[in-house]
Amino acid sequence: MSKALIVYGSTTGNTEIVAEQIVEILKDKGVEVTLKNVVDATVAELGKEYDLTVLGSSTWGEEDIEFQEDFAQFFEDMDKAELKDKKVAIFGCGDSSYEHFCGAVDELEGKMESLGAKVVGDSLRIDGDPSDSSSDVDDWAAEIAAAI
Ligand SMILES: Cc1cc2nc3c(=O)[nH]c(=O)nc-3n(C[C@H](O)[C@H](O)[C@H](O)COP(=O)(O)O)c2cc1C
Repeated sequence: MSKALIVYGSTTGNTEIVAEQIVEILKDKGVEVTLKNVVDATVAELGKEYDLTVLGSSTWGEEDIEFQEDFAQFFEDMDKAELKDKKVAIFGCGDSSYEHFCGAVDELEGKMESLGAKVVGDSLRIDGDPSDSSSDVDDWAAEIAAAI
């Protein structure tokens, strides 16, 4: 059975809702999933025995791109993550009325490239209320499951 780790940061619960929906789809596809709020995760856990690592953060800030507050330090620490050649998928919640729509997702893509990770699928950017994008989340989760 393939294994996936999902680590997410969420302030008002939107990214958490999306993470939980991804869990359900991956499980339906036969993947064993570990879901962690970033406050309970360590960078050393990333990659490891997992066939897929899924990272999710909402975006905050006005002029500059800011990660969800719990995810910010984790992102810095991720320089030490052993993700070379590991499959990673990235998602995040945001609001397209802001200048840097889902900027945290862009930043994560850049970090994964610098670490030599293999980003699977097109990263998922949720605009506004995630319940309006439920079918997009289902489709994306099915796509990353197929990429394991
Ligand atoms: C003060 C503030 C700043 C925000 N900045 C951005 C931003 O720069 N880019 C973006 O895409 N969304 C931005 N958002 C929208 C949030 O990312 C969005 O509400 C998201 O769904 C929150 O997800 P969470 O509940 O998982 O933290 C901002 C929201 C607030 C209240």
